[in-house]
Amino acid sequence: MKIDIDFLRTRLLGSTFISDIIYIPEVNSTNEHSKNFKDKDNLLVITDNQISGKGRYGRVWESAPEMNLTFTIKKNFDIEPDDIQAVNFFFTNFTLSGITEYLKCEQVLSNNDFLELKWPNDIIFRKKKLCGFLIESDIMEGNFYIGCGINVNQKEYNNDYDYKTTSLVKSFGREFNRTELLAKIIELLSQNIHLFDNHEFDNILKLWMKNFNMIGKEIVFTDDRNFLGKAKITAIKRDGGLQILVNNEVKTIYSGDIRILYQN
Ligand code: BTN
Repeated sequence: MKIDIDFLRTRLLGSTFISDIIYIPEVNSTNEHSKNFKDKDNLLVITDNQISGKGRYGRVWESAPEMNLTFTIKKNFDIEPDDIQAVNFFFTNFTLSGITEYLKCEQVLSNNDFLELKWPNDIIFRKKKLCGFLIESDIMEGNFYIGCGINVNQKEYNNDYDYKTTSLVKSFGREFNRTELLAKIIELLSQNIHLFDNHEFDNILKLWMKNFNMIGKEIVFTDDRNFLGKAKITAIKRDGGLQILVNNEVKTIYSGDIRILYQN
């Protein structure tokens, strides 16, 4: 089933921060497409078929037609370079809250089941990746392109890289309504956008940390695919850095991926 764009327009325009929705049935990448609308603010670009989705580090983001959510929010932020990471913290955390709220309404999430954040900007469920973000920006203009891919009704994925991929259908054994899920996410983002407008960046990080359960965990970190080392996470810095203890030395890394070494 296709995204119900009329439903989205009725539910979101006028009552959330999104002021325009562009639906394109098929597109290479919603992030790339949204860059054609530099003058628009608070724009949601969504497709049912993203044919060459971009992941971090030039990777491909795989999404079968009409199965998942692939969208980009184009928003202007008037923030200092030091606070740019708040965009990442804000969108990843409140997208997680939106998905959680939706799953609770659907009564599929039990009390000891919860979504978690993984540095720098993944949402994981039961140790597998459910959602990824590619946030691009044009700092001089203050334009941010917040690209989000959420695995919903796709049962199999080809490109697992070094992490495991999950989707809602893989996790719960039933399909979900993508339109309603997206509406819930935008509503959650909207209910909290005042944190951004009031420049409550410390608060945004504090809220992000509540869904980040990896302090003290053993990890391996990689830059794209190369193994760089084994370490323990000690903190997340406000500038987005991951503070780690490696060979008894505290270091901060700003880019790369981490893989949690789970005990089981
Ligand atoms: C990652 O985890 O590597 C980031 C994945 C980001 C995928 C989304 S899907 C919508 C938007 N458009 C793109 O081309 N990529 C992002």
